[in-house]
Amino acid sequence: MQFQKILVVGLGQLGLPAAKYVKEKGFEVFGFDASLEAVDRAERLGGIKRAHDFRDYDAYIICISTHAHDDMFSPNIEGVLSIADSISKEAKRDGALVSIESTVPKGTSEKVFEILRHRLHVVHAPHRWYALEEKEHGVNQLRVIGGVCDCCLREGMRFYDRQSVEDNNNNNNSYSNNTTSTIHKMATIEPSLNTKMVTYRKSLEIPMHPVSRIEIAETTKIVENAHRYLQIAFAEELYLYCQANNISFPELRDALNTKWNVNILEPREGIGGHCLPKDTKMFLESSNSIRSRILTAARGVDQNYRTFRASLNHRPRVEESNNG
Ligand SMILES: NC(=O)c1ccc[n+]([C@@H]2O[C@H](COP(=O)([O-])OP(=O)(O)OC[C@H]3O[C@@H](n4cnc5c(N)ncnc54)[C@H](O)[C@@H]3O)[C@@H](O)[C@H]2O)c1
Repeated sequence: MQFQKILVVGLGQLGLPAAKYVKEKGFEVFGFDASLEAVDRAERLGGIKRAHDFRDYDAYIICISTHAHDDMFSPNIEGVLSIADSISKEAKRDGALVSIESTVPKGTSEKVFEILRHRLHVVHAPHRWYALEEKEHGVNQLRVIGGVCDCCLREGMRFYDRQSVEDNNNNNNSYSNNTTSTIHKMATIEPSLNTKMVTYRKSLEIPMHPVSRIEIAETTKIVENAHRYLQIAFAEELYLYCQANNISFPELRDALNTKWNVNILEPREGIGGHCLPKDTKMFLESSNSIRSRILTAARGVDQNYRTFRASLNHRPRVEESNNG
């Protein structure tokens, strides 16, 4: 399969820059969204063509929201499964790629794979995109990728990776160091790849970190955000401690952050954006047996901090949300 015609599903805060990036890389990009406004915006701002169905594409990139309609802090993957169902019914090209870029709980990609019955390949390549620092932390920063099967991962790497797999058929051993390391990573996961590399010229040129199981890719994303949640909750607790003990929080924070391995964040307005609370909840709910006690406590701290702020009658300010 040569990748040329790409459909981006979900053209919101993340999907629009993702679609624009794919277009910049020379692919023919179409967009689909439940909101006509989002489709119009993508056409106007990014020249993204509107899609009317899911029929005729080489790759599908899913960037839709994964929270409940009535509660932005609660995970919901019904939309992702329903998109998978539409792709399964309509897609004409066997072997096309479905990449889930939305943040999803562990096990979601397998469900998508079952719906598609492996007629199409499934990878998960979660985003680390950050609106406020799009230049440094945009679409093409280093990302983790997992595939449901080895062949899914191979197709995903071919589509995404900066130095995807170069020509190994001419035996000239002329790989750059970075390419060699990509091949090494892939070969660790799928040893047969070492001898099977073929030439693929066009890719998204994003540096990718392949992992051996798709659950690792799913878990990586939600743990990254849970980790950020913890860091902010600690700052909130420290702030409350300072209030109770008549200590200047900014001065304490400045003093602490002079140490090389300490980085206390600012607590600001509480842990916001839809990603951190939702993804932390996804992580908390991801295990049947072990529930993170430290994250459960952190959610309580955030609640206390918000109550304290409300009691001070602080007007909400629009500012950076420490999001990730
Ligand atoms: N925004 C970020 O900074 C960021 C960063 C990393 C990961 N993510 C993840 O990316 C995903 C998308 O986030 P976002 O910020 O772009 O959300 P968003 O709300 O800005 O956009 C989501 C878009 O998906 C559309 N949509 C929802 N359900 C749909 C469906 N069933 N069919 C078609 N379209 C549908 C909505 O109309 C909306 O335009 C989420 O899983 C989020 O956690 C977001």
